[in-house]
Formats: sequence, structure tokens, C-alpha cells
Amino acid sequence: MSDSAKLLFNGHEYDLPVIAGTEGETAIDIRKLRAQSQVITLDPGYGNTGSCRSAITFIDGEKGILRYRGYPIEQLAENSDFTEVSYLLIYGHLPNQTELKQFRYDLSHHTLVHEDMRHMFDGYPSSAHPMAILSSMITTLSAFYEDTAENMDLNIIRLLAKVKTIAAFAYKRLKGQPYVYPRNDLSYVGDLLQMLFSFPTERYEVSEVLERALNLVLILHADHEQNCSASTVRMVGSSAANVFASIGAGVCALWGPLHGGANQEVIEMLEQIRDSGENYQAWVNRAKDRDSGFRLMGFGHRVYRNFDPRARILKRAADEVLQELGINDPLLDIAKHLEEVALKDEYFIERQLYPNVDFYSGIIYRAMGLPTNMYTVMFALGRMPGWIAHWREQRHDPDTRINRPRQIYTGAGNRNFLPWYERTQG
Ligand code: CMC
Repeated sequence: MSDSAKLLFNGHEYDLPVIAGTEGETAIDIRKLRAQSQVITLDPGYGNTGSCRSAITFIDGEKGILRYRGYPIEQLAENSDFTEVSYLLIYGHLPNQTELKQFRYDLSHHTLVHEDMRHMFDGYPSSAHPMAILSSMITTLSAFYEDTAENMDLNIIRLLAKVKTIAAFAYKRLKGQPYVYPRNDLSYVGDLLQMLFSFPTERYEVSEVLERALNLVLILHADHEQNCSASTVRMVGSSAANVFASIGAGVCALWGPLHGGANQEVIEMLEQIRDSGENYQAWVNRAKDRDSGFRLMGFGHRVYRNFDPRARILKRAADEVLQELGINDPLLDIAKHLEEVALKDEYFIERQLYPNVDFYSGIIYRAMGLPTNMYTVMFALGRMPGWIAHWREQRHDPDTRINRPRQIYTGAGNRNFLPWYERTQG
């Protein structure tokens, strides 16, 4: 492969270096283009723009490959747990026994939020969306923990440890139930379950089925390279903002229905389909009609063009979890039928639209007893180590500059200001 590309523009020839990744991905380096030629590139939605070099996650959307630090998602899903995967993503290697023990210890000894902060949860209306609470409380951590170079790694541990307490407190706030404090004797996921579902009045036994299922779901969400929220974390982090502020912003980016908010919308859509009495084709037709404003939520992906490996694993897991819990959820059947009809439809085939990670995850959260507005919070908990890894990688990357895209201005030309009494039009 050649190591440079040529751009011919306005009678000049520009040599642009070519950069290759370890899996053969190739980029034309345009960093010096504007300085040399006065032109910029335009790429709304960044579909063809690499914003950084990263050694965290590899995706091949055509082949349906997803790897964290080189390890296939299928192997991690089968053999690992969320804590170990978090370590892998953040620090770049699978921990040895001592490292893992220390990491588990650290994560279980930084779980409490300051009591002053706990009181803040009471200030939210019980109708608040928990993503509003989660994002602002994560940012609020920066009011309690100073951002210094020496604190950087400790703050990362604090964030990962405390975020599940914050998520569980947000949930309890919505339910009007007493906050349940963390327990150090439980695993990361076991503790999350007990803070969500237990009451101070009774002893809570962590269900093995739920613990396994939640570990799996969180692992599958743990990173997805330069998606909207990770790019937001990097965008904010590029100004040297602290980890809490950067990731609080990432949580907000995740909230949107085109990103992590889709998992809530999927279940609401399946409920609508159930209640409508209309057949699947009618809903698929609606999704094909641009004017309807309706899309099949949980379908389609910017990168995956064949299948989303996370959706495949989750579809199987949803079946198993429901079976193990003895739950018969008609929404699972509706989801499967809808998938079947959509995948046979020319519109979806042509545009390479497949179920994504959000299509089946909600079925599992529902089986756990979570309300739909908590689903994106669960996605955020899963994505936490990914965001942290990106923030940390960027901090250590000598190529990091403040992110500052350019634009093509399309507004009015230079014009003179007129006082309001002389204006005949706006
Ligand atoms: N239902 C119907 N049509 C769709 C859908 C869908 N779910 N997704 C894409 N299309 C159509 C779209 O209308 C467009 O058609 P045309 O070429 O005729 O204009 C074509 O497919 C390409 O879509 P796009 O919006 O240009 O693709 P994108 O890469 O910009 O967007 C997406 C990707 C995920 C935002 C989009 O597929 C979508 O809105 N899906 C539904 C929301 C969803 O499930 N989001 C979760 C994404 S996975 C989890 C995550 O990472 O957050």
C-alpha cells in the first residue's frame, strides 16, 4: 500500500501521508491540509473522519467483529465478568490475580457518595428522568473530588465505584423508596442489584441468574470506539476538563433516542405494537415511510452493515434469562417476529439495517423488574469503563489537541447594523 495520497486542487498537487492501523484500516492524514491549501474537508456526522488513534476497541462493521483490546466480544461475554472487562478496557491488559484482587477491593471501597451529595437526590422531583440525575450527579462528583495529576487514577476508581450507587439512588428516588447503601462483601454487579432491589427491612439474596445476566449485558455495552457519547467524552476531555465533567457530558450524549436512549424506545415501541392490534408488516411499512416520523427503534447502525454481534448474543441471552426466571414475556415474541418481517423486507435489506444492541437488552431489563426509563441508565453503567478508557487514553496521547472542528459558513455576508426604528424587515 502506498504511504501517501495525492490531492489535486486548483492546479496544485498536495502530498498527504497515509496512516494504517494494526488491522489494516487506512486513513489519509489531512492535519496539514488547510495550512498548505486553505481548504478543509466537510463530513457532517463524521462518517469518514477519524478523530484519533486508539488502541481500545476494534470494530469491523462489515464482518460483525467487535474486540476489546484484541479480545473477541464473544470470548469476553462467555468467560469474563464486568469488573475484569473494565480493568482490561481501562488499563489495556487482562489483570493478573493480584491486580484483579486489588481492583475489586478498590472498587468496593470507594462506593459511598458523600452524605451532602446524598441529600441532593431529595431535591429532584420523583418524576425526573434518571438520566438527568445520573449525568448531573456524575458531574457533581467533581465538586467533591479535586482534579489533580496525582488524583487522576484514584478519581477513575471513584467514578467507577460510585456510579452504581448514584444510579441506584436515582432509581430509589423515583420509586420513593429508602436509599440502600452499598455492601463491600458483594461483587460489583451483585452490589448494584442489592442497591436497586433490596429494602433496609429485609435480607436480600443476590440472584445468580440476574447477576450473570447483568454482567453479560454490561460487558456487551462496555465500549464501542468513537461513538457519539465516547466522542463527546473526548471532545470535552480535549479541553483538559476533569474525568467527572467529561463523562457527565458523555452520559447526556448517550441519552438521545438515536443512541443509548433507543433501548427505552424499543420496549415502548413493542408495547405499542402489542396494543395496536396491527400486524408487523404495518409497522415495518410505517418505518419505511419517511413522512411517518417513525423508525424501527433498535434497528440500524452507522458501523455494522451485516449484523451486530452484541445483538446476537443478547437475543440468545434474553431467551435463556426469561426461561431461567420462568417468565413468559410476549414482548420477546413480538420482537422476534418484528425482526423476522423487517429482515425479509427489501427496504431493510437494501440499507443493511439489522437489530442493534438496544433491540433485545430491554427485554432483559424488563425481566429484572426495571422500569423503561432506567434502561439507558443501565447502558451508561455498562459504558462507563469505555468512556474512562477513552478519557485516559486521550490524556496520555501526545497527539491530543483541543478539539475544534471548522465549518463552511453559509450565513449572510457583511452588512451594517441599523437601529430598530429604521428596520423595515428582520
Ligand atoms: N428504521 C427505518 N429506517 C432506518 C432506520 C430504522 N431504524 N435506521 C436507518 N434507516 C434508514 C434511514 O431512513 C436512511 O434511509 P435513506 O437512505 O432512504 O435516507 C438509511 O436507513 C440510513 O440511515 P441513517 O440515519 O443515514 O444512518 P445513520 O448511520 O446516520 O444512523 C442510526 C444510524 C443508528 C442512528 C439509525 O439507524 C437509527 O436511527 N436507528 C434507530 C435508533 C437506534 O436503534 N439507535 C441505537 C443505535 S445502536 C446503540 C448505540 O450505539 O447507541
